[in-house]
Amino acid sequence: MDGKPTINLGLEGIYFMESKICKVDGKAGKLYYYGYDIEALAARSNFEETSYLLLHGELPNVKQLADFSRALSEERNLDDKIIDMIKSVPKETNPMHTLSAAMDLIGAYDKNAEKTADNESTSIRIISKIASVVAAIGSIRATSQYTHPDPKLSHTANFLYMLNGEPKPKEVVKLADTMFLLHAEHSSNASTFSGIVTISTLSDIYSAVVSAINTLKGPLHGGADEAALKMITGGIGKDPDKYIDGIISSGNRIMGFGHRVYKTYDPRAVIIKEQLKAAIGDSDSRVKEIAETAFGIEEATIKRTGQKGIWPNVDFFSGPVYSYVGIEPELFTPVFALSRAPGWCSHIMEYLKDNRLIRPTVYYTGETGRPYKEINSR
Ligand code: ACO
Repeated sequence: MDGKPTINLGLEGIYFMESKICKVDGKAGKLYYYGYDIEALAARSNFEETSYLLLHGELPNVKQLADFSRALSEERNLDDKIIDMIKSVPKETNPMHTLSAAMDLIGAYDKNAEKTADNESTSIRIISKIASVVAAIGSIRATSQYTHPDPKLSHTANFLYMLNGEPKPKEVVKLADTMFLLHAEHSSNASTFSGIVTISTLSDIYSAVVSAINTLKGPLHGGADEAALKMITGGIGKDPDKYIDGIISSGNRIMGFGHRVYKTYDPRAVIIKEQLKAAIGDSDSRVKEIAETAFGIEEATIKRTGQKGIWPNVDFFSGPVYSYVGIEPELFTPVFALSRAPGWCSHIMEYLKDNRLIRPTVYYTGETGRPYKEINSR
């Protein structure tokens, strides 16, 4: 090749496939799952129905949804070996490591793991079990206890039940369910891409999901909500303008702000902010304090960064919402993972329909022909 090629760091702006699953319109601040507007899904659908949509490309009819919900419910149980593994992990371990190891182990015990033809039913198993694993990690860390699933509850109600050892009120379940739905899919984000890279080698769907989990872990992706909440709580009782100036002038980023694709308000953040506003009316004073501080920081940040196209993303409000739901910050990223599982599985199956090994090229800038010196003469 003559001359230096264009290098697209972070693969920004590179199209690597066609997809019908998700459209992220970063200019207009719009998001569609299989053509359905996220506002309509958040207002009228739920996580189970949306998961069906992501796996099948169509909304289910009454029977299809009932069958799908039953299949999810039937997969909730965790084998004792998985629970023992979760119990054996040191308390200080990052729960994303535990989640990754548990999902890999579930794959190791699944005799159908390598059967591509079973990927649809394996996806249902993954979506169901990842929620049970996250709940088990949370409850074992908090109380050393594992709560067995309740097959009569919805996916989200059961997750909160397993996490807390008791059922949560309907309005709390509804808010958590909306958060899961909003996080369920987001096109070729880093974790999804990593899952696609893994499946492109004709590995298996568990391995691809485990790659996605490990990629989600970082603070520039799934770890942003925990970092954003830390920043929000650090601003309690402070003047938001001075607080934000301090963060920016010390060269730090405002967590939960900015996005590679959205150069305007993230539509998921718009939806969840409204729901948070409505919910805090009857929440405790700590959650109100967190939410009100978040609104102040949001306004102060937009004044400084809006013109540069840096607006709140969904993770800015995830922390305050999960505080209301009663989820501990260390569990935010695992909860993001259980929410994103349908999107990961959907992309993995779509990619396999027309698989090609992903193998991009680097532009080599090193030397060639260096003389090899024996170790004693270096
Ligand atoms: N706070 C302050 N400044 C920011 C922020 C932010 N959150 N995000 C970007 N910028 C600034 C950068 O400093 C840079 O400024 P410069 O041009 O003066 O150097 C400019 O905006 C462009 O930044 P990039 O890093 O090139 O933009 P990119 O598209 O790669 O950023 C990213 C996307 C990584 C998400 C970034 O906005 C960020 O770090 N945000 C904070 C972490 C976060 O919230 N992540 C969650 C993403 S959403 C999700 O995973 C669900």
